[in-house]
Amino acid sequence: MLILAIETSCDETSAAVLRAPNGGRPSLAPMGAVPLDGRSSAAPEVLSNIVLSQDEVHAPYGGVVPELASRQHIKTIAAIVDEALTRAGVGLEAVDLYAVTQGPGLIGSLLVGLSFAKGLAYYHKKPLVGVDHLEAHLEACFLENPGIEYPVLGLLVSGGHTALYFMEEPLSYKLLGRTRDDAAGEALDKIAKFLGLGYPGGPVIEKLGRGGDPKAFPFAVPRTKDRSLDFSFSGLKTAALKHIREHGIGKDDARLPDFLASFEQVVARALVDNLRLAADTVQPRSLVLCGGVARNTRLRARFQDFARQAGLDAYVPSPKLCTDNAAMVGALALKKFARRPDMATDLDLDAYARS
Ligand code: KG4
Ligand code: ZN
Repeated sequence: MLILAIETSCDETSAAVLRAPNGGRPSLAPMGAVPLDGRSSAAPEVLSNIVLSQDEVHAPYGGVVPELASRQHIKTIAAIVDEALTRAGVGLEAVDLYAVTQGPGLIGSLLVGLSFAKGLAYYHKKPLVGVDHLEAHLEACFLENPGIEYPVLGLLVSGGHTALYFMEEPLSYKLLGRTRDDAAGEALDKIAKFLGLGYPGGPVIEKLGRGGDPKAFPFAVPRTKDRSLDFSFSGLKTAALKHIREHGIGKDDARLPDFLASFEQVVARALVDNLRLAADTVQPRSLVLCGGVARNTRLRARFQDFARQAGLDAYVPSPKLCTDNAAMVGALALKKFARRPDMATDLDLDAYARS
């Protein structure tokens, strides 16, 4: 069984072709068929995963411009789907199932992918599975590590979302905490924009802060007053802007690497501190880290350090599967379809901006 998946929730146009595991019969992993040790079945095979980033379109504005994003998706989606099929070496007639991101994300962008997928599914009379973008990010971890043991505690850190999920079994997601203001990636993007370093901010901060001393600027780790598992990054962003103004830190400043390393370090600490609190509460067997910011080396290292101390198995997708991509959407859709193989093409499937 082959699935064609489409992802257009933000500023990446992506299409992927995956082959279902278990000899192509996804129904081998229905509800309750997960082995007793909690491990899920084999992972699907990713035949292609094409991602076209719109970074160059949005870079002059220092952030994503929604109207430009949707127009860009319209221009490129057909070519990206074509490329995914070509790289996979199959034609549309070989596709058994379609998958698409429904939300959360930019509504105009989501509608481009959703309408395109609906058109294909309707014409070819094949089922279409709608997928949640945040659940798809979590699925990226299982795509490379199908044997992750449940219960799983997941830390999702992207440009638009920062959240902790408890997964007691496959396809069950309990939200334990989320950001009350900025997402971690958004804080990195805003600081980079303020310093004129370009967009997206995360990778450029990582690059320029690489040799810096993470202890040079003493940032306080943000904590919510009620000690809940929620995150808050807006205070940290304000503190960073104050440092920049008070110390006169600029783009070509010799102190820039120290400043960026310190900022990146406190963001990573805030994230892992909350993960630790959550792990104490829910006692998971495994930890997963996902979303665009999970590409960050400092965060990955702190995450692994914590997992080692806590004696828990820990998984992070390879960098290409951390940022937005359609393979993770296809992988999740296959699991959802396996539970409900009678799913038909629902042309009423709607996009949603918020979760
Ligand atoms: O998951 P993603 O591709 O899109 C959303 O769903 O938001 O995440 C994009 C975010 C951006 O904020 C970007 O700055 C951040 O991921 N990012 C990084 C790195 N690479 C991407 N942040 C820190 N270090 C990186 N290497
Ligand atoms: Zn994302």
